Amino acid sequence: MRIDVVTLFPVLFEPFRQYGVVGRALTAGAVDFCVWNPRDFCRDPYRTVDDRPYGGGPGMVLRPEPLKTVLQQVKKARADGARTLLLTPQGQVFDHAAAVGLSRGDGFILVAGRYEGIDERLIESEVDEEWSIGDYVLSGGELGAMVIVDAVVRQRTGVLGDARSAAQDSFATGVLDHEHYTRPECFDGRAVPEVLLSGDHERIRRWRLKRALGRTWLRRPDLLAGAGLDGEAETLLEEFKQEYLQNKGGQ
Ligand SMILES: C[S@@+](CC[C@H](N)C(=O)[O-])C[C@H]1O[C@@H](n2cnc3c(N)ncnc32)[C@H](O)[C@@H]1O
Repeated sequence: MRIDVVTLFPVLFEPFRQYGVVGRALTAGAVDFCVWNPRDFCRDPYRTVDDRPYGGGPGMVLRPEPLKTVLQQVKKARADGARTLLLTPQGQVFDHAAAVGLSRGDGFILVAGRYEGIDERLIESEVDEEWSIGDYVLSGGELGAMVIVDAVVRQRTGVLGDARSAAQDSFATGVLDHEHYTRPECFDGRAVPEVLLSGDHERIRRWRLKRALGRTWLRRPDLLAGAGLDGEAETLLEEFKQEYLQNKGGQ
């Protein structure tokens, strides 16, 4: 997989590309990661990437010419017809399904905007998809690009040390993850649930499934409708609900 990012601030990606899961994936060669600065493709002596908006108003707009030139160079360097994705608060909201979808391809090109955004004509001519990371406005697309790259890279086969990690994460099975514990057995007067110390793998599996379903019901009930629960999951969720309501009644 190859991922290219077009940004006015390549330095922001330096620590990102060195550490953690993404850093290991890049070092291992599982993903080729290239960062491009449109400023390097400006033809004027001042390397101007932005200009005032037609029609007036606050802020600056990214000029189309440097972005077109840099995107042409990126596409030439890749030569694989990769899709160009723009980070914008006006795009489709990025989610787990989108991460999995992108992780199955050969890569993509991300464009991070700045200022008031990018000249619309560049978007019309060069951008294939528009993605948002949530309903709020950031100062630039770099954090969004990192969010997408991280979410996609960890879904690639072989990137995580144990493939089961991604498979049991929240959203992977349609519900949220269960809670996790490590040593010590008792912390601040709170004990680890007894079942997790039992060594009984079947009991642990059922407990974790029940907790995952219960947490989803409490925190994100909207997910349950599309989760396709089987008979065992339906039974465990019903048990969770009854226990929860009984405990609540007793409080
Ligand atoms: C200040 S924002 C521009 C916002 C634009 N004027 C609007 O209201 O739609 C500058 C850049 O940050 C990025 N950005 C801001 N919020 C984002 C979000 N929620 N998701 C993805 N990118 C975002 C985009 O690349 C955008 O071009």
